Amino acid sequence: MIIKSAKFITSSAKFSQCPAVKDPEFAFIGRSNVGKSSLINMVTGIPGLAKVSSTPGKTQTINHFLINDEWYIADLPGYGYAKVSAKLRTKWSLEVEHYIIKRENLVCLFVLIDSRISPQDSDIKFMEMLGLKQVPFARIFTKTDKLKPREVKKAVQKYDELMLDTWEELPVTIISSSTKKTGKEELLNFIEQSINIFKKSG
Ligand code: GTP
Ligand code: MG
Repeated sequence: MIIKSAKFITSSAKFSQCPAVKDPEFAFIGRSNVGKSSLINMVTGIPGLAKVSSTPGKTQTINHFLINDEWYIADLPGYGYAKVSAKLRTKWSLEVEHYIIKRENLVCLFVLIDSRISPQDSDIKFMEMLGLKQVPFARIFTKTDKLKPREVKKAVQKYDELMLDTWEELPVTIISSSTKKTGKEELLNFIEQSINIFKKSG
């Protein structure tokens, strides 16, 4: 798929404020600082479209972008961000949970995982929750430019081993690096195929 246009639409503090649209939507989620906003910029080819920061907790709202006047990207706040108050954290996670479960045009949730660190309980538990709620998702391993190819393989294997305890089948998995543009083609192909299936299922 070729990206012809990508426009910021709106920021929503609450699920109920998200734009009411029927077009297919893909959302990016994962722990704070994992690289969600960077990946959105890399995939759309527009640096600065989504706000990036080296300080965790940058994205605090649900941000919608319209791509090719045809489909949407949602950039979500990170989970597991310790520095904000527990009250605020609960509020965000509630809004994000509403979004994940109730967003009718959500085709697939991309769960970003930092390839440099050992499997995190919060990531495993989050994906288990998605399974229970039957939310379609794919895994994207980020920041792989920081590792050697065999280390990336190992990082994925560690998650696979843990997930196979509870999952019969492993989700679609994409290896990415926003700095090296790794995984761009694969992600866009996956999105294109998913949009076609979404349209057919009408
Ligand atoms: P929050 O909005 O705070 O939850 O963070 P986020 O998940 O949107 O992360 P963001 O894209 O803001 O990136 C966090 C930091 O990681 C920034 O300093 C980025 O430059 C860096 N980063 C993101 N992707 C990559 C990558 O592929 N490789 C490397 N080396 N650094 C990355
Ligand atoms: Mg962000």
